[in-house]
Formats: sequence, structure tokens, C-alpha cells
Amino acid sequence: MATTEEMDAMYRWTRYVYDITRKYYLLGRDRLLRDMELKSGDRVLEIGCGTARNLIRLAKQRPDIHCYGLDVSTEMLATAAAKVKSAGLESRIMLQHCFAEQLDHRATFGLEEPFDAAFFSYSLSMIPPWAQAIDAALANLKPRAAFYVVDFWDQADLPAWFQVILKRWLELFHVHYRPELLDHLRQMDAQGIGKLTLHSVGGRYAYLATFRKSK
Ligand SMILES: C[S@@+](CC[C@H](N)C(=O)[O-])C[C@H]1O[C@@H](n2cnc3c(N)ncnc32)[C@H](O)[C@@H]1O
Repeated sequence: MATTEEMDAMYRWTRYVYDITRKYYLLGRDRLLRDMELKSGDRVLEIGCGTARNLIRLAKQRPDIHCYGLDVSTEMLATAAAKVKSAGLESRIMLQHCFAEQLDHRATFGLEEPFDAAFFSYSLSMIPPWAQAIDAALANLKPRAAFYVVDFWDQADLPAWFQVILKRWLELFHVHYRPELLDHLRQMDAQGIGKLTLHSVGGRYAYLATFRKSK
């Protein structure tokens, strides 16, 4: 398990330049925010919300929904809270310190009902117990609700030299492309747990996955 201390050490200084530097390589995030199927009044959770960049965009795009974010890094959460405050969105974005794999909508956010939607934006590739994080997301979603994932794919449609450089670069940031993760989602689909839909972003640089619970 990645600890809060490990994540805080990684983000203690980079959190100040995180949004500007990640803009160019965390591709597909805005498409995920646009593509989520949301209804007025929905409660939406970002798992591994970092600086709250996505939640702030989403809350501005959809003034009719309620946003929630959790992260294991207290440093990231401090930056997130400051950004939410300066955007004037404190009443619509609730942030909590929590491990993705330990999510419980009641204990973590004091909610009686599960979430209407959840998303992982470039966080599952950093979470060693990713399968437990997926189980926790499913357990905290309403019946037939969906969780969404945007994360690095295999760059199969991009030049080989690009794949080598990108993988080395990502290893520096504890990011791992996990082919077994997509296999896991496909198996869950085959077992009837839900329906998986997959789209490529930029020549399989990243994938956008939707997993909708069957019940
Ligand atoms: C690459 S950042 C992405 C941040 C944000 N989702 C975005 O798209 O800008 C990954 C985030 O996942 C968080 N994280 C890593 N392991 C986690 C875990 N087990 N539970 C919750 N958050 C975790 C990190 O602290 C970090 O803020």
C-alpha cells in the first residue's frame, strides 16, 4: 500500500506546479468530465482527486450536482482545499483524506446513500491495491450507476521509441501501466457484474473506460 507519507513526499513541492505541468500529459481528463452521464442533483466522487483540478471544472460545468473528492496525500488535499476556496466552491465540493481501497460513503463522507457516479483520473495506475479500490468504488455506487477511468494505456499505436521514453518517465512518478487492470474489468463484464465500454485517447496513449453496474 502506498502510504500517506510516501504520497506526501512525492507531492510536497510538485503540488504547486502540478496542474500546469500535468496539463500536457494527463490527456483525456476533460473528455471524461464531459462524457459522464449525470443528472441534476447527482453526487459524484473523484477517487484520488489530487489538486481538485477535475472537481473544480466539473462543479463549474454542472452547477446542479454535488462533488466529492478523496485522496491519500494530505499535501495534495491542502492544495485542493485552497483551490476550491479560491474558486468559491466550498459549499459544492467536499474533500476528505481516505485510501481509495477503504472508501465507505457513510464513514468517509457521512452520506446515507451511495454515490451516483465516481471516477478515477490517472489515479488507479498509482494505487497498488487497485482491485480493492475498484471493489470499494462499486460498493459505494448506487445500483446501475457507473464509474469512469482515464489512465495510461499501452501506446500501441504510437512509435516504439515514444513508448520506451514515456514508461521510464512514468516510473519516476510511481505510475504503472497495468494491462491486468483492463483484463480485470473485462472479466467483471464477462461475469455479468457490469458493462465495460472502452475508448482510446491519442493512439492508445490513454484509455477512457466506463463500467456500469448491472444491479
Ligand atoms: C497522478 S495524480 C492525479 C490527480 C487527479 N486525479 C488529476 O487527474 O489531476 C494521482 C493521485 O492519486 C492519489 N493516490 C495515490 N494512491 C492513492 C490511494 N491509495 N488512495 C487515494 N488516493 C491515492 C495521489 O495522492 C494523487 O493525488
